[in-house]
Amino acid sequence: MSPTIKEILITKLQDRTAKVGIIGLGYVGLPLAVAFGEAGFHVIGVDLDERKVNSLNQGTSYIQDVPSEQVSRLVKAGKLVASTDFSRLEETDAVSICVPTPLRKEGDPDLSFILAATEKLAKYMHPGMVVVLESTTYPGNTREVLLPKLGVELGLTAGEDFFLAFSPERVDPGREDWTTYNTPKVIGGITANCSEVSATWYGQALKTIVPVSSTEAAEMAKLLENTFRMVNIGMVNEMALMCKRLGVDVWEVIDAAASKPFGFMKFTPGPGLGGHCIPIDPLYLSWKLHALKYTARFIELASEINSNMPRHVISLVMDGMNSQGKALKDNRVLVLGAAYKPDIDDLRESPALDVITLLKEKGALVLYHDPYIAQLHHDGWDMISVPDLMAAVRAVDCVVIITNHSTYDYPAILDAAKLVVDTRNALGKLGKDNPKVFRL
Ligand SMILES: NC(=O)c1ccc[n+]([C@@H]2O[C@H](COP(=O)([O-])OP(=O)(O)OC[C@H]3O[C@@H](n4cnc5c(N)ncnc54)[C@H](O)[C@@H]3O)[C@@H](O)[C@H]2O)c1
Repeated sequence: MSPTIKEILITKLQDRTAKVGIIGLGYVGLPLAVAFGEAGFHVIGVDLDERKVNSLNQGTSYIQDVPSEQVSRLVKAGKLVASTDFSRLEETDAVSICVPTPLRKEGDPDLSFILAATEKLAKYMHPGMVVVLESTTYPGNTREVLLPKLGVELGLTAGEDFFLAFSPERVDPGREDWTTYNTPKVIGGITANCSEVSATWYGQALKTIVPVSSTEAAEMAKLLENTFRMVNIGMVNEMALMCKRLGVDVWEVIDAAASKPFGFMKFTPGPGLGGHCIPIDPLYLSWKLHALKYTARFIELASEINSNMPRHVISLVMDGMNSQGKALKDNRVLVLGAAYKPDIDDLRESPALDVITLLKEKGALVLYHDPYIAQLHHDGWDMISVPDLMAAVRAVDCVVIITNHSTYDYPAILDAAKLVVDTRNALGKLGKDNPKVFRL
């Protein structure tokens, strides 16, 4: 009996003769392309962004976690090539879709990137292909949107002629202990055959595969992970607001609670949520549930608390300025850190952008410094990071610590500043009971 399409594809995946395609070469797609390249596959990366494509083909990485040396080695070995030409996907057997899934201005999911990528891929689909969606989305999206376009409309049957699965990315930019390779990877297919083929493919390049029974379970697992973080951050942000009313030091309370060796997980308050995932993904879930006439109450409450944190930061700045007899209007404020978390250059959804906008609206003269981000463009304003950090710290009326980059010399900053608003407890004990420090 001749081998089935599934058996032929599994053999090609196991002996690495299958060619891999990655659509979208960003924070998720590039590390994945490199992981498959390292595992011995020929990888063709497709992206709309010509600069990224040219950069990769010249052996230069633009993602902090992926060294240029690695990209250059894979490119030279012929294991990795990037292109803006989608017809290159015709050569591939196994394709991952890693395009963005932002929100629209109204707060609804923007699926246009997934749709565009899927429609382009559909032109080059052929029997014996496996496709995995990595972009975070709502439960049901892979089956409702990708399956018709890649299968039904082309006369291909999922699980027999081609294989379709969802596998959520868990990359945590800047992290070195848990990488694309060693972070366990959840994967769920449209059918059992889809799960088997996609898990076989990913298992060639990634250390631990966690199979689940459906695309919906895999989609929902990602949303549970991110909703868990968002809700807990919302809860601890509210703790900070409540502690402020009570006159209790929230940082001391959190450290005390975290001494419990079981049943507690530490989260810290801050100036607001940031990054491409935590502020956005849970809203995909609440949007989907709205359509089913269900209100995702935890998500909506946490979202409301978290999105008000930048306003709380402004009120702390005003309290601090008041204590020194100054108005916010026409006085100088230096925002320290623009990235959404320490020691990375990722600006997406960063609360620094909201804080700066609100300070400008109040008439403050705002400067910023970030060792990783040289310039900012946002909602009608552009800024350049101040060239001399300590000169700026001395010159301004207030320093607001938004991102606790580890490269900052906090004792020196505190010493030189007239007033510090510390939203991250970056000053630690130095900031406690210090009249020129206002802490979250
Ligand atoms: N960045 C993270 O930390 C992270 C973590 C987990 C999950 N995710 C999810 O992974 C997905 C991708 O996120 P990312 O951070 O890699 O985004 P990104 O913006 O860094 O990269 C996306 C890439 O896709 C390209 N692109 C857009 N439309 C395209 C199209 N039609 N065809 C080909 N390329 C296209 C863009 O040019 C860009 O290079 C999102 O759904 C995100 O929610 C991201």
